[in-house]
Amino acid sequence: MSLRVLLSSEQIQTRIQELGAQIDADYPSGTLTLVCILKGAFVFLADLSRAIHRNTVIEFMGISSYGKGKTSSGEVKVTKDLDISVEGANVLIVEDIVDSGVTLSYLMQVLRQRKPQSVRIAALLDKPERRLRPVEVSYVGFKIPDEFVVGYGLDYGEKYRNLKDICVLEDGPPTP
Ligand code: IMP
Ligand code: MG
Repeated sequence: MSLRVLLSSEQIQTRIQELGAQIDADYPSGTLTLVCILKGAFVFLADLSRAIHRNTVIEFMGISSYGKGKTSSGEVKVTKDLDISVEGANVLIVEDIVDSGVTLSYLMQVLRQRKPQSVRIAALLDKPERRLRPVEVSYVGFKIPDEFVVGYGLDYGEKYRNLKDICVLEDGPPTP
């Protein structure tokens, strides 16, 4: 398999500064609770959180919807829940990529039941062509074509998460 750079580290960093400024402007006061979706969003969270200049609480949530390959199992489950209550909080979900939308539509439903003051989504990448469930994503880093990408937190079979660029994984098994 070979890797082709789709988004360079410099492009990613520039865009994240813009997203941070937009988020700062949209939440004029109070604490923002960032909910990082493990594992893929950990690198994005590290950079986005430092581009936000306000009080934040950082939490992690584990969700699984994918098997070991490139296809969704179609089944979503919470593998690690939040350590705190988000009742009354302004919650911003930090996700690596929105693909079918199955994971995020499920997560929105789970978090809304916990009565936060608000809940929005920040996703670094969006593959709109693949959407099966509608999801409103308030902050999108980049819209990308329907190609399987790795790096900057994203994996294929747990590999490539530590690449600094986002790359297309080529010559692999076809995406259905
Ligand atoms: P969804 O439920 O189909 O929207 O899937 C979202 C999850 O699938 C993301 O959080 C990723 O973990 C994973 N995913 C979707 N597309 C890709 C990709 O191109 N590369 C790596 N992981 C992906
Ligand atoms: Mg993910």
